[in-house]
Amino acid sequence: MLTIGVLISGKGSNLQAIIDAVGRGEITGRVAVVISNKADAYGLERARKAGIEALVIPSRGKERTDFEREVAEALESRGVELVCLAGFMRVLTPYFIRRFKHRIMNIHPALLPSFPGEDAQGQAFAYGVKVTGCTVHFVDEGVDTGPVIVQIPVEVREDDTADTLSGRILEQEHRAFPRAIQLFAEGRLQVTGRKARVLPARR
Ligand code: GAR
Repeated sequence: MLTIGVLISGKGSNLQAIIDAVGRGEITGRVAVVISNKADAYGLERARKAGIEALVIPSRGKERTDFEREVAEALESRGVELVCLAGFMRVLTPYFIRRFKHRIMNIHPALLPSFPGEDAQGQAFAYGVKVTGCTVHFVDEGVDTGPVIVQIPVEVREDDTADTLSGRILEQEHRAFPRAIQLFAEGRLQVTGRKARVLPARR
């Protein structure tokens, strides 16, 4: 059983997708703790409803490494093996990333390396690409640059707005994140350089 910690900053629909996938047995693990840097994140409510410990660790006004040390200690004291960034809107420093090397996953609403950074859906829409999507990747010391684990494409329709496109990307995010977590839980992800290789399922 994989012990998962989820970091959020907002509404937490990806967190909900993870909780639901655990509930259906599609992730052989459990979410031990949800941590938000924002006290008003709706995802905290989702965690509590699911009986999961929900912590607020404010980032504001703190040195980055002080904030990250608090988060790391909260995760480690609960035995977290995999850290999932589910709409966590802070860039982590090398200090935190090294402490959880190859054990942090992020979901990004574009097909990386296209459209890294903020508002990836809006960037893709404004650029006029015909296909975008979502990416789950391991977090390295860059912004949205780590080894790719799962990607799901989403077609851009002629009548899309940035909002309708974001909505369809989000649906795919909810499939992609649990899938990536389960690959990790099954020990099927092997990172070599900038690639995450998906090993075949053991029989
Ligand atoms: C998701 O679309 C996620 O991909 C994005 O924030 C949203 C969070 O939604 N993350 C990033 O843009 C990270 N750079 P949620 O709180 O409903 O899961």
